Amino acid sequence: MSGVLFPSGYQLEPLRRDHSRQGFDSGVREVDAWLATRALQSQSKRLSSTKLLVAAGRIAGYFTLASGHIKFDELPIELARGLPRRTLPVATLAWLGVDRRHQGQGLGARLLAQALRDCCAASKAFPFIAVVLDCLNEDAKQFYQRWDFRELPGAPYRLYLSAARLEAMMTGDQ
Ligand SMILES: CC(C)(COP(=O)(O)OP(=O)(O)OC[C@H]1O[C@@H](n2cnc3c(N)ncnc32)[C@H](O)[C@@H]1OP(=O)(O)O)[C@@H](O)C(=O)NCCC(=O)NCCS
Repeated sequence: MSGVLFPSGYQLEPLRRDHSRQGFDSGVREVDAWLATRALQSQSKRLSSTKLLVAAGRIAGYFTLASGHIKFDELPIELARGLPRRTLPVATLAWLGVDRRHQGQGLGARLLAQALRDCCAASKAFPFIAVVLDCLNEDAKQFYQRWDFRELPGAPYRLYLSAARLEAMMTGDQ
């Protein structure tokens, strides 16, 4: 699966120890703190993986993916149909952020597209039923809803994109 194209001067890199992670400022403290203090440790423990968008040696954006699970009772009808009544695998889009100095240029949308491509590629080897994420605020929720993420029942800030819709999106068959 080919990668998303970023504007010239920006490149996508897996998070490494030598990346300087201080000074990233998305405007949301939790998003900045995760990158500065926890992303690398989590990755080295194989709990998550983080990709950075780098420009002129500085981090302009990032996203973190992890595997996860969801209880059958938490599923909307669209997802639940035909599935066993047990805990089920999901992909988790744990974090996504763009530094304020780089916002408003389509980079967040491209990072999200890349994260979803990575999820789709991973699903060929390790299937899951949906991509799930937790929004930190109403702004973030509106951002994700533009890409067809929907609310999980009873959890207005937990959104999902079914694996079926993800695959349709990736093949352009929507
Ligand atoms: C949300 C965020 C990633 C968007 O990044 P960005 O690079 O500014 O977004 P883009 O320029 O790619 O915008 C893509 C589209 O989403 C819209 N959009 C951007 N931010 C939005 C927001 N907060 N709410 C609703 N829509 C938004 C843009 O208007 C644009 O629409 P258009 O294509 O019709 O012009 C960035 O604002 C950010 O890092 N915010 C703080 C951290 C955060 O909330 N992360 C998500 C929760 S973990």
